[in-house]
Amino acid sequence: MIDQNKIDEMMAQLREMKAAREQDLEEMRIKWLGRKGEITRLFDEFRQLTPEEKRTLGQKLNELKVNATRKIEELRESLNQIVDGGKASFDLTKPGDMVELGSRHPISVTREEILSIFRKFGYSVAEGPEIEDDWHVFGALNFPPEHPARDMQDTFFVSPGGENPILLRTHTSSVQVRTMESQSLPIRVVCPGRVFRNEAISARAHCIFHQVEGLYIDKNVSFADLKQAILLFAQEMFGADTRIRMRPSYFPFTEPSAEVDVSCNICHGEGCNICKNTGWLEILGCGMVDPAVLEANGIDSKVYSGFAFGMGIERIAMLKWQVKDLRHYFENDLRFLREFETVI
Ligand code: PHE
Repeated sequence: MIDQNKIDEMMAQLREMKAAREQDLEEMRIKWLGRKGEITRLFDEFRQLTPEEKRTLGQKLNELKVNATRKIEELRESLNQIVDGGKASFDLTKPGDMVELGSRHPISVTREEILSIFRKFGYSVAEGPEIEDDWHVFGALNFPPEHPARDMQDTFFVSPGGENPILLRTHTSSVQVRTMESQSLPIRVVCPGRVFRNEAISARAHCIFHQVEGLYIDKNVSFADLKQAILLFAQEMFGADTRIRMRPSYFPFTEPSAEVDVSCNICHGEGCNICKNTGWLEILGCGMVDPAVLEANGIDSKVYSGFAFGMGIERIAMLKWQVKDLRHYFENDLRFLREFETVI
């Protein structure tokens, strides 16, 4: 019959229990907690006790059951830890090694920010190959045959010879050409990607960098549309009080062309060493798509017009976070990258 001594005795037995195999554990469980197990039987007997006895033994009996369940669990856990036939084991209770979380690279952060602004304006994103042919990088964009960009001094060639040499794209305008080839009008795309130029590496130039270029072609697209698109972009990117100015420029594929400056977001036009006391920072090149480019890509330039723009992601990121040396972006020095953890 159930009594205090019996329970104490079973508690002691529990403490001594060991299991070498999974099977031992199962036997143990049946013996103690199974439908005809010892503890189950005690609970049956418990029901016949007087209220007085129930009060003194109830708590003890519950404790016994909890302990038995826990003991079997513990034994199962330690069995699981033993690997390789018991020769090697490891301690699951040891604290683990910290996994260091990375963060996004400032160039990726900036690219995403630029793209999300243009997505809001209704642009879609297009990507294309980094290894291109002369036609998509130069020919279709109205570069004359003698243009210096077609020279080995400026462009990396994969195979220089022949009618249509293979090269590393020098701008993502090539993706705009591919978009004109494959998509129907109107077109509104932004083309992010890596570009390559044969430049000596310095604080201000690198042979690899990243661009986002944009192209908008429809009926009645005017220079005013271009100006407004760039102004809205600049204000989203650098702050609502940002102003822009356009300076005349030249690109083979746009006419007229312009270089765009934004008011310095550091001194707000007062003059500082970032803007070299001019109050302005150059951010991108743009212009109306030259009719010759539209025609080269099978678009009727009497019906359609368009604008294009292109910016360097490194440059935008430099202006946004006042990074003074372009090379930081490529060296992956953790001290530099960690500065952007909170931005991300
Ligand atoms: N493709 C030009 C460059 O890489 C940028 C640009 C794009 C300028 C579109 C005007 C219009 O420098």
